[in-house]
Amino acid sequence: MIFTVAIDGPAAAGKGTIGRAVAARFGFAHLDTGLLYRAVGAKGGDPVAAAEGLVPADLERWDLRSLEAGQAASKVAAIPAVRAALVAFQQRFARAEGGAVLDGRDIGTVICPAAEVKLYVTASPEVRAHRRWLEVGGDEARVLAEVLERDARDMGRADAPLRAAEDAVLIDTSAMPVDEAVARAISVVAERM
Ligand code: C5P
Repeated sequence: MIFTVAIDGPAAAGKGTIGRAVAARFGFAHLDTGLLYRAVGAKGGDPVAAAEGLVPADLERWDLRSLEAGQAASKVAAIPAVRAALVAFQQRFARAEGGAVLDGRDIGTVICPAAEVKLYVTASPEVRAHRRWLEVGGDEARVLAEVLERDARDMGRADAPLRAAEDAVLIDTSAMPVDEAVARAISVVAERM
C-alpha cells in the first residue's frame, strides 16, 4: 500500500509526537524532515554542497536537536538550491511501499501535494516556547524569542514558506493534551484509509 500522511506546522507544535504515534499505529515509516535541514546546517561549509552530499549517517549527529541547530537549519532552509537538493529523497520516502508519515514545513504544500492526509499542527508561540524550554532549559524568554524568530523566517521566505495547505486538517494543540491530539490525527487517517 502507498499512503502518505503530510504533517506541517511551526516548531514545537507537536508534529513529531503526532507523526511518530501515527506511524506506530498504522505501521508506516516516519521521516522528521527537519533533521535534513538541521544536518545541512550543522555540516558547515557550502550548504548547497552539504545538501547534495547528504547521507543517512549525517542525520545521526547527537547535536542536531539544539536551538542553535534549529536556527542554522532555518537559515539554510531559505536557500532554494538546498531545498531542491532534498526534494527527491523526501518524495521517494513518501511513496515507498507500506505507507509513510513525513513532518516538516512544506510537506503538504510542496513535497507531497497529493498526500492522502494533510495535517497542520500548530499552537500559540507561548505554548510552543514553554514546551521547548521544558526540553532545553535556560532562559524561557530567550526560547520564546528564538521560536518567534524561526517562525518569521520560515513563514516569510519566498521558497516554500510555512503555511497550511488548503485541504489540511487543522489541529491546534495550544490547550489540547497530547493524547487527544494524537487520537484526533489517528481518526483522520483511519477515515481516509
Ligand atoms: O522541524 P525542525 O524544527 O527540526 O526544523 C528545523 C528547520 O528546518 C525549520 O525551522 C525550517 O526552517 C526547516 N524545515 C523546512 N522544511 C521542512 C522541515 C524543516 O524548511 N520540511
